[in-house]
Amino acid sequence: MYTLALAALVSTALAYPGEVLRVRELTERDNGADGCPHYLPAGQYEKPAYITQVSKSQPDKAFGPNYNGIFTPNDISSIFSFDIPAERADANCTLEFLFPKSNDYSYSGGGSFFFTGFNPGSCPGPWTTYNDPPAPGPFPAFPPIHMEPGNLYTIDVGPCFVAAGTCAAGMTGTNDTNFSFMENDGGCPIGIYTEYSYGLPPGTPPSS
Ligand SMILES: *[C@@H]1O[C@H](CO)[C@@H](O)[C@H](O)[C@H]1NC(C)=O
Ligand SMILES: *[C@@H]1O[C@H](CO)[C@@H](O)[C@H](O)[C@H]1NC(C)=O
Ligand SMILES: *[C@@H]1O[C@H](CO)[C@@H](O)[C@H](O)[C@H]1NC(C)=O
Repeated sequence: MYTLALAALVSTALAYPGEVLRVRELTERDNGADGCPHYLPAGQYEKPAYITQVSKSQPDKAFGPNYNGIFTPNDISSIFSFDIPAERADANCTLEFLFPKSNDYSYSGGGSFFFTGFNPGSCPGPWTTYNDPPAPGPFPAFPPIHMEPGNLYTIDVGPCFVAAGTCAAGMTGTNDTNFSFMENDGGCPIGIYTEYSYGLPPGTPPSS
């Protein structure tokens, strides 16, 4: 998705947007006492500050703020926006789609999802429609990503400074899947999150 794709302009170490960087299976054994998978470190992630939908078949309809991610084939897409605090400018931001197996959502179809990123600072609001989305980001849409329940998808990693002090927003749609879930419902985390990380990326050998 993501405005953080801009990061690739400033660091060749980062993957070109569009690769699914990592898929990790969510297993029972990772569940905490509350039965939820715990992949998001406490205090080190952001849930969406604003979620809304846009509809290709109702291109001038403003859906307004919503707690749900809603997707229908070739019609309804969801826009997710994160507020990135200025003090996170020195962190890396990882965009993740946490998709645990659950009875709390409805999902049917082929699981092809498309992510596009908006420009950092171009945030969605009550006015947002299919015909009036936030400003496009510097990269074309990501190639399709196959997502199905039971996994955590790492979609993009980049330095947070590109959006620090403002918002990072992107849109997710599908051509073959009906999917609806409630993000921020106080139950198990599900959906899109931005995780902060500091220090060398995992797998980096220690320099001695
Ligand atoms: C999505 O939902 C619509 C409306 O209920 C239905 O007609 C369509 O067959 C569904 N498609 C898939 C892939 O589940
Ligand atoms: C959805 O998009 C994917 C990737 O472009 C494509 O392979 C697939 O055939 C499409 N499915 C439908 C139902 O259009
Ligand atoms: C961010 O990620 C890059 C590329 O993996 C890495 O070189 C850098 O050290 C990371 N920075 C922080 C603050 O974690």
